[in-house]
Amino acid sequence: MKKLFIVALITLVGLQANAQERDWAAEVSDKITISKALFKMGDDMTWANRDVDDSSWGEIDVTKCWNEQGYPAHNNGFAWYRIHVNIPKSSTDQQNVIVVNIPKVDDADECFVNGKRIGGSGSMPTSKDGYATGVFAPERYYEAGVKETGIRLGEDNVIAIRAYNRGGGGGMCEDSVYVFFPKAADGLSLRLNDISESQHRCDVEIVNKYATISNGLLEIKLIDRETGAVAKSIKKMVSVKRGKPTVVSVPYDSNVMYQLTATYTDEKIGEVFEETRQLKYILTPPTPETPRFNNAPVFGVRPGSPIIYRFAVSGERPMKLRGNNIPEGVELTEEGVLIGSIKNAGDYTFTVTAENAKGKDTQFFTIKVGADKIGQTPPMGWNSWNCWGLSVSQEKVIASAQALIDKGLADYGYSYVNIDDGWEADERNADGSVEANEKFPSMKGLIDWLHERGLKFGIYSTPGATTCGNYTGSLGYEKEDAAKYNEWGVDYLKYDWCSYEDERHKNNDWGYASCIRPYLLMQQYLRQQPRDIFYSLGPLGGTEVHLWGLYCDGDSWRTAPDIEDDWATVYRVGFRLQEGKSQYSSVGHWNDPDMLVVGKVGWGRGELRETRLTPDEQYTHITLWTLLASNMLIGCDIAQMDDFTVKLLCNNEVNAINQDVLGKQADLTKKDGDIEIWSRPLADGSIAVGVFNVGDVDHEVDLKALIPSDKSAKVIRDVWRQKNLADEELKCNIPLHGCRYLKVAF
Ligand code: GLA
Repeated sequence: MKKLFIVALITLVGLQANAQERDWAAEVSDKITISKALFKMGDDMTWANRDVDDSSWGEIDVTKCWNEQGYPAHNNGFAWYRIHVNIPKSSTDQQNVIVVNIPKVDDADECFVNGKRIGGSGSMPTSKDGYATGVFAPERYYEAGVKETGIRLGEDNVIAIRAYNRGGGGGMCEDSVYVFFPKAADGLSLRLNDISESQHRCDVEIVNKYATISNGLLEIKLIDRETGAVAKSIKKMVSVKRGKPTVVSVPYDSNVMYQLTATYTDEKIGEVFEETRQLKYILTPPTPETPRFNNAPVFGVRPGSPIIYRFAVSGERPMKLRGNNIPEGVELTEEGVLIGSIKNAGDYTFTVTAENAKGKDTQFFTIKVGADKIGQTPPMGWNSWNCWGLSVSQEKVIASAQALIDKGLADYGYSYVNIDDGWEADERNADGSVEANEKFPSMKGLIDWLHERGLKFGIYSTPGATTCGNYTGSLGYEKEDAAKYNEWGVDYLKYDWCSYEDERHKNNDWGYASCIRPYLLMQQYLRQQPRDIFYSLGPLGGTEVHLWGLYCDGDSWRTAPDIEDDWATVYRVGFRLQEGKSQYSSVGHWNDPDMLVVGKVGWGRGELRETRLTPDEQYTHITLWTLLASNMLIGCDIAQMDDFTVKLLCNNEVNAINQDVLGKQADLTKKDGDIEIWSRPLADGSIAVGVFNVGDVDHEVDLKALIPSDKSAKVIRDVWRQKNLADEELKCNIPLHGCRYLKVAF
């Protein structure tokens, strides 16, 4: 029936499969190594089945991308691999599950055993959520139940891999395919789920994926990180069965900085599993029930442009807002949204009062009207990229926007709801105008919905022909796109770079002018529109946009490559790459070290996950970004945001530093070993100081001695805890990657 050309090699010693990931395949003694497969371009789901006549299929080496071995690149296309493999009985202690370990697949994949799907990476364009690239990490470990997939030991079985190539290299690359029986203990995992709801708890969970029952001792310790005291100690014998995870809940007080350690020892094989986690702690004091204005007292708009401005007021609802001396042409809705427009340039100051059953608060507020008044303070809001990547959809945007209101973030000034790449249709309309793809059934409807709630809408494009995610770009259609943005009601444009690099290549044009030109072009069309569109420039690489962004009238520009949710990236992007850049930032022209990586993120690469930053690192991230006067665009799914993250993002004194009307970005003002001091002057004459420990061990510091000023400090305030520090509190410990945030008055 088929050519039997595949050599199923049983190796007795573990091969060095791929050192980057956990070397699981290398840990097993007998595994099957497969380097050749049958191959066909095209897409037919029946090709997953065991009995398919594949005698006419071609032959391929799975360790190299298909385009490197004579096949066409086949961009935006599918191809299938079929591997016939004889799986013999194994010598490990379980025979119920096999692992199919496949190398990196460019760009998305699905894997089947005898016609049953056992896993996949990324998302296919044919799926409900549309295309998303697979994990960047090279290896995929897919598990198949022997019974469930009808594996016949000692006979022929078929592993089929469906691969989709968006562009560039295609298909399986970089390594062989491995098939093996994992050990029973490989089915065990110990996880800590730190759950931050109104009551905090950490769930210690032991899961057994395989049928062999595991009995053993579970030990849990809850330790106060500041005092070292053991607050709780639990010891328990447990029995863990497949499909029935063992869960032990450990409630804890979120006002204390705890660490939890759990150890599980399987009594039969003696294998020990251990996990340690720094638990979430909340520093932000509770929100008062009385009304409180949390927004900066200023908003900028161009003459005649529509005003949509939602006052950020916390406190118990219902609440009413009223204005006194509101300028002509503008009205304040009862929900606290300013709407209207002002014809003439100038500063318009008035008062707004918010009142509820518990009390009232009044703010002096200024609308600055002028051609250059957009972006008086850094934009605050949400962007879809760090959670949804290219799988963003209208539904997901609405879910985050609704949560922005429901969870109170809008009451703290988060008002932009921005979609990133992945919204664009492949084809333009006959008149050249751009269209949204099927994931956005009504762009206008979505934007109107946001505007009705006083929220603003941001969109994404690029000056090149295609975007970074290979969607339609604006090259040659800048005028049409700016007009369409106005028609839809867009308030923010993130204008990226990526394929514009091709234009520079084509023209052999490498100076700054070659960067400025396309940005200036879009700027002119944007500014011709009768509405304000915040202009955020995204180019990276060697383009050094901070040096010339001002000449394109950019309202902000990226000062770092793409952020990821790990300490090494946050450290590089936030600390190292922002040094010396404060001189390029000014009111309306902000440096942007990229979006926030707190909460649940994932870039559309499968399931969202909790940020990998520890709570200490998250405090450092937000402290630094607010000091840097950066755009504050939340990158997680707000609908799934927990209490800890809400409190982290909604500290009015912390956010007030980001939104300070003086608009001066912090500099690195002192460095003493691992301790870095970043500080900025504030409009009220005080200074904001971040004391960071960027090293890998804890440090004792004297906060007073670290204040970067010759003047003697009168009041040293802890901004996160919102309390003035007494002398004896100034000598303290800063944990590794942690910080203290101070406001110092003289
Ligand atoms: C670039 C940008 C990201 C995101 C993606 C979209 O990588 O830097 O922020 O917009 O493109 O494809």
